[in-house]
Amino acid sequence: MAEISLPGMNTSLLIIGANGYVGAKLYVDLKEHYPTTGTYHHTPLFPELIHLDITNPKEIHDVCTKHMPTVIIHVANHANPRWCEAHPEETKLVNEMATAWLVEEANNIHAKFIYISGMVARLNNNNYALSKSASNKIVASTADDYVILEPHTVIGLSPNETNDRMMNRFLKNFDAGVAADYDTSWHFQPTYLHHISQVIAEIVKQDIRNDSIPVLTSDLKTRYDLAHDIFGPLGLVTRPAALETDRPPTTETTDKLKKYHMPIYTYAQMVNAIQSELKTRT
Ligand SMILES: NC(=O)c1ccc[n+]([C@@H]2O[C@H](COP(=O)([O-])OP(=O)(O)OC[C@H]3O[C@@H](n4cnc5c(N)ncnc54)[C@H](OP(=O)(O)O)[C@@H]3O)[C@@H](O)[C@H]2O)c1
Repeated sequence: MAEISLPGMNTSLLIIGANGYVGAKLYVDLKEHYPTTGTYHHTPLFPELIHLDITNPKEIHDVCTKHMPTVIIHVANHANPRWCEAHPEETKLVNEMATAWLVEEANNIHAKFIYISGMVARLNNNNYALSKSASNKIVASTADDYVILEPHTVIGLSPNETNDRMMNRFLKNFDAGVAADYDTSWHFQPTYLHHISQVIAEIVKQDIRNDSIPVLTSDLKTRYDLAHDIFGPLGLVTRPAALETDRPPTTETTDKLKKYHMPIYTYAQMVNAIQSELKTRT
């Protein structure tokens, strides 16, 4: 697995949502290199995580002023599009309004604000996408020092194996030895989870400011490709099936990653790296 660059002096991180699928991996990767505090909302995945409900502006203020991080990484959102469709008010509160409160506190303590957005924000086709797009606008127009990261569907081993994310569904079938149908119709450029940690380390090291960075591989792949290529050699039986038909393929470049001389993963490198992660899984 590629190394993370060493941090700048006096860097300290606050990861909001260190409990989730993406946040838990960022937390374990980045705390190896930086003094890092992580927050949870419900049950802490790691005992040292501190409680924060981002719908409570006073709690945000108290946590930020107590820990005084130089970088805040915001990775706490409702991330299930179907849930967001059924709960529009909670989605607006957590995914949009809380962003404004977090940015306000980041500005108050002069912290860099790194927002984990997503390529989905460009679609504007459901509550989830709209809330991510609204947060991008809030961050870009009000944060003094920010970077917006735009992953596509994220894949890779996380300490959080229970949240309902694509990788964890693969793992569930793999662990149970269940053969399953995987979609072949929707083509997207997957994002390698550990790559996000590496990109954040570069943002901190280079002190990158006020930009949006797509973080993804350049190859168009399907869910079937991912399940088949990562888990097939390990014994998972994958059946191709055209389950989704109307989602457009992504067409994004890795130009921003190149511009900042950041690590870039080909699809094959990502598959190899995830297979190595799986070998160390306990
Ligand atoms: N997974 C992907 O493929 C993907 C792709 C692109 C972008 N993203 C973005 O990455 C971020 C994380 O996604 P994920 O896949 O890791 O989702 P996840 O596993 O569902 O994690 C969501 C996190 O949000 C926290 N949270 C929810 N409501 C909160 C509240 N009121 N106060 C504080 N924390 C709260 C949860 O805390 P508790 O667990 O403690 O409740 C959890 O840590 C999201 O912004 C998502 O849009 C994900």
